[in-house]
Amino acid sequence: MPSASYPALRLRRLRQKAGIRDMVQETQISPSDFIWPLFVIDGENIFEPISSMPDVFRYTIDKLVEQAERAISLNIPAIALFPKIDENLKDADGTEASNPNSLICRAVRAVKAATPDLIIMCDVALDPYTDHGHDGILSDGVIANDETITHLTAQALTLAKAGCDIIGPSDMMDGRVGAIRAALDGAGFEDVLIMSYAAKYASAFYGPFRDAVGAGKKLGGDGKKTYQMNPANSDEALREIEMDLAEGADMVMVKPGMPYLDIIRRAKDRYNAPLFAYQVSGEYSMLMAAIDNGWLDRHAAMFESLMSFKRAGCDGILTYLAPEMAEILQKR
Ligand code: PBG
Repeated sequence: MPSASYPALRLRRLRQKAGIRDMVQETQISPSDFIWPLFVIDGENIFEPISSMPDVFRYTIDKLVEQAERAISLNIPAIALFPKIDENLKDADGTEASNPNSLICRAVRAVKAATPDLIIMCDVALDPYTDHGHDGILSDGVIANDETITHLTAQALTLAKAGCDIIGPSDMMDGRVGAIRAALDGAGFEDVLIMSYAAKYASAFYGPFRDAVGAGKKLGGDGKKTYQMNPANSDEALREIEMDLAEGADMVMVKPGMPYLDIIRRAKDRYNAPLFAYQVSGEYSMLMAAIDNGWLDRHAAMFESLMSFKRAGCDGILTYLAPEMAEILQKR
């Protein structure tokens, strides 16, 4: 590429004033990039703190609706709902996952009634519902792929009937996207979207989330390593993404986020499908811990972490920072 060289070329000329810096800024971030994950509990008029996630709460449905209204007022287009259910509703097969009157279904109906324009995404995976904390069905100590899929399609249909707009399979079973797409289409839900957790790694950074939904305490041995990906792999992430797109995923996700920006860039260069990252609980808590200790500048650190996803090639980000960042962006 033809280019001048120093001293005719001085790249600092483009950085000398805010106005010029803004003119040449390559990447933008806006509230419309955000999907805001929210935790739901049963009860009334309660929002309870999550000790490992500063400033994040579990909301009862009435309080959740207030947060949904807040999302609308902040121009955040979508929320992702995660239930923490009573221990006595959990069993080995996670039966509660396909109960049409479950906490999550009641939450979806209430939010839809109050804020019909807000997009609702729900996870499809059994871990909030199983007493062993795995995402699938255990058979002789092994997560049984095809048997799990039967449960996941039932769960997806239940969520679609409740009014969920985006189904997010987060279980990492092989073939689940195709099965869920077929089940949705068979029941007349052709317009319900699928955002697959396509490249989801067996990560240490989900720790605080598992506290938040009360899952995973009992996962021993290999944890979720027989279905979630090995953090050392990158080509395999592309195969996972390709497989989910071939099965009908509308959007794909890489998770966690910041430790996997290389995967995001490779995926964006290779596929022209909408691509998302999940800035997961552990990333959030790490950032907040440093901020709360006064070691990082709050807004600058939040902003830079989210900008990295957009720069790497993401179309959007699932982030617990969504409301605060949206507030900051609105004031600019
Ligand atoms: C459930 C699920 C997890 C997350 C989203 N959906 C945890 C896990 O797979 O163990 C993690 C989100 C976060 O850490 O913020 N399958």
